[in-house]
Amino acid sequence: MTIVCESDPLAAQVLAAAIGGELQIVSTLGKVSVLLANVTGRCPVVIGASVPIDEALRFTAQVTVEHPAALVILIRDRPTDAEITRALAAGAHTVLDVAAHDKIAHACSAVTAPQAEGKIFAVFAAKGGCGKTTLATNLAIALQGEGQRRVCLLDLDLESGDVASVLDLDTSRTLTYLTGKREVGELVDSGELVTVSPQTGLDCILAPVTPGDAERIRPAKLGRLLRALVSRYDVIVVDLPARFSPAVLATLDHAHHHVVVATPERPALKNLRVTLDILDLLGYSRAARAVLFNRSDTRAAISAAEVAAVVRGPIAAHVPSSSDVAASINRGVPLMAAHPRHPVSVAIQRFADSYAAVLPTSAGVRAAQDRDSRLGCSPHQGGSNAGTTA
Ligand SMILES: Nc1ncnc2c1ncn2[C@@H]1O[C@H](COP(=O)(O)OP(=O)(O)O)[C@@H](O)[C@H]1O
Ligand SMILES: [Mg+2]
Repeated sequence: MTIVCESDPLAAQVLAAAIGGELQIVSTLGKVSVLLANVTGRCPVVIGASVPIDEALRFTAQVTVEHPAALVILIRDRPTDAEITRALAAGAHTVLDVAAHDKIAHACSAVTAPQAEGKIFAVFAAKGGCGKTTLATNLAIALQGEGQRRVCLLDLDLESGDVASVLDLDTSRTLTYLTGKREVGELVDSGELVTVSPQTGLDCILAPVTPGDAERIRPAKLGRLLRALVSRYDVIVVDLPARFSPAVLATLDHAHHHVVVATPERPALKNLRVTLDILDLLGYSRAARAVLFNRSDTRAAISAAEVAAVVRGPIAAHVPSSSDVAASINRGVPLMAAHPRHPVSVAIQRFADSYAAVLPTSAGVRAAQDRDSRLGCSPHQGGSNAGTTA
């Protein structure tokens, strides 16, 4: 159910028509509180433009504490930057212009959509060049589980992200959007951050490409981004740089699984031990950690005993070395998508499958919802009015 607070009957009628579905329209914020007392699930509360801003913000600050499941969508007539900033600080879910009917409808249906409670995989390494991007990309495809899960591949190697080139994607949409005034949840809900990879079906969020943009993205915003992605995707795979940057720490804090990649060479092993020690020191759970060896069968292989002495625990997977990896990158189609039976793909798939029992599988439901929202209709309206609401 959506609650609309609007004292102007005509404005209320316009909002109701834009939002559709099951609605309760009331004329005062006091009546909203009465309705909320009986609400259990997530509930969009649309505060119309006729409600004075100070009153609306006082109510928002109070309701977000008393009813965390109520998400305030504040409607204003051409909201100013100052109003948006104040509203978000008070805890509003989003602030939208009174004329943006499709955005208002979309925000309401996004709030009531089933929550995916996705799991975040942080792919990290002791050293650059050991295969993080290769593994993150192929792992993300494998975790789709033949269409069971919606997967987002997030490139947080902010200064030298390679996901776009590995998947041969256009870089007109990147994380640079996060440096603007728009609210993170709204950017995620509107799909504006996402670049779809047609060959793999992955939703990708790409690293900035303009020099200087990386340092303008604040770690707190990345935290908000990760929280927003968790409610939209079953799995989020994050490709990280090989150092403990603020973006890496923010990701490790939010991640459910830490995948630490190494290659079986002495310098990489030394760095791996240091990394594992730092992760321990920072208090990250060892249970959430998986150590994965990439290019495991190279000729100058190091002895298993030496590896075991460094890792001091189980090794979750060994991914073989193959010149087909470089060839797949040059073609812009990862091995997992082009050749799922390739030994590299099989090793990564087996690793992905070891998580099957603990990952949500909501892809079917959400695919239908996304199709509805792309067609411009709310889930309550069916598809027959496509194109008429924009
Ligand atoms: N299993 C593998 N076999 C052969 N080459 C690999 C393998 N994994 C990665 N590579 C190659 O190693 C290089 C670095 O990989 P990349 O994934 O970009 O590492 P990182 O993201 O850790 O810097 C790339 O040229 C890639 O083709
Ligand atoms: Mg990389």
